[in-house]
Amino acid sequence: MTRLRAPRFGEAGPGAPRFGEPGPGAPRFGEAGPGAPRFGEPGAVAVREPRGFDAGRIRADFPILGRQVRGRPLVYLDNAATTQKPQAVIDALAAYYSEINANVHRGVHELSERATDAYEAAREKVRRFVGAGSAREIVFTRNATESINLVAHAFGDPAIGEGDEVVISAMEHHSNIVPWQLLASRRGARIRVAPIDDRGELVLDALEALLNPRTKLVAVSHMSNALGTINPVHDIVKLAHARGIRVLLDGSQAAYHMPVDVQDIGCDFYAATGHKLYGPMGIGFLYVKESAYAEMEPFLGGGDMISSVTFEQSTWNEPPHKFEAGTPDVGGAIGLGAALDYITAVGLEEIARHEHDLLDYGTRALESIDGVRLIGTARRKASILSFVMEGVHPHDIGTIVDRQGVAIRTGHHCAQPVMQRFGVPATARASLAMYNTTADIDALVDALGRVRELFG
Ligand SMILES: Cc1ncc(COP(=O)(O)O)c(C=O)c1O
Repeated sequence: MTRLRAPRFGEAGPGAPRFGEPGPGAPRFGEAGPGAPRFGEPGAVAVREPRGFDAGRIRADFPILGRQVRGRPLVYLDNAATTQKPQAVIDALAAYYSEINANVHRGVHELSERATDAYEAAREKVRRFVGAGSAREIVFTRNATESINLVAHAFGDPAIGEGDEVVISAMEHHSNIVPWQLLASRRGARIRVAPIDDRGELVLDALEALLNPRTKLVAVSHMSNALGTINPVHDIVKLAHARGIRVLLDGSQAAYHMPVDVQDIGCDFYAATGHKLYGPMGIGFLYVKESAYAEMEPFLGGGDMISSVTFEQSTWNEPPHKFEAGTPDVGGAIGLGAALDYITAVGLEEIARHEHDLLDYGTRALESIDGVRLIGTARRKASILSFVMEGVHPHDIGTIVDRQGVAIRTGHHCAQPVMQRFGVPATARASLAMYNTTADIDALVDALGRVRELFG
């Protein structure tokens, strides 16, 4: 089995694509380059995709992609929900539990020291991956949802009071809506929602118009899971910071599709989740800009987040440990570190270029099917093909294509306000990752042909 060499950080080459702007050489639907499968040739496996991306080599690293479902080779297009894991991540988890397992930060024995070192090394990998200035700024959490809730409590409770406002957008995942609703009801604060247009793009002027002296936080997604829209995060941060407002970005989707540099973006908080980053479930992280720590109180109380405890009072450990109460998911953090090594070795610019080529190919493929309407056509978008099909409920689409071995997601994608905005109860969503190929999209198109046959 092919294994990728260890990453060399900062190796990204020239010619990186601008996200959402597929450059020359991208395959056009029905015009795939040499070696790529031709539409209508089911079972074709693209080893080398049109721009030379070696998807075959990548796929060999993901054992699950070799399995069959419903008696057919698995076509996995539900990556926005969770990505599959490369062997390197599975091996890292197994190695941790078979060779190191011990609790961290507490023991003087060898295994505890090794576990602590490996856990802190994983934190350093996350720091490098998102371009944070120091590992102190990386807090491990269970997932992006916990990261956002951490900000809502640790920053929100002390900083946001009666009549204050939190600005979110109309494309948010429930995980970036509900924590603010809970905060609003605890603190008597108010949520303001910046609208999106018919393409699914954020209306930046409208967001700006919402900012006022009562605004204490802007919390928006870097990339929408329901639409694929990539938000103009640099502009959002500039608008907010010009008024002294802190910014949280939900990077759950963006972090595995494009390089992220939190210092360049300038945001105050960046939340992400390991299982979408090809890492294990149950581990996530939150970037906190050093200056924001001064405004934050502890989130959960218990072991590791304390400096001293008496019955009268306790004092707190230094960040990031101040925000990591209880035994952390040490194996998960190490597995996430292995996943970030893997992504870095492939190269996020390469991944982004490949996925944009596929998105372009998939967009043309779906647009060519009678009765299919894409939901989310932002000019800057990544990896999401959300669609409805005239006369067919999305759940029926999902069930029928599953019988053809094609895994997509149907429903509201934890973004019910987005469904309301577009006047649909649900969509079918195919979402792409680095190991997908034009053959996967062809398989989806074939399966949708079957849906058409059944529904007339
Ligand atoms: C944009 C966005 N935000 C937040 C989340 C929540 O991630 P998790 O369930 O891992 O906390 C998701 C997951 O689908 C997402 O796509």
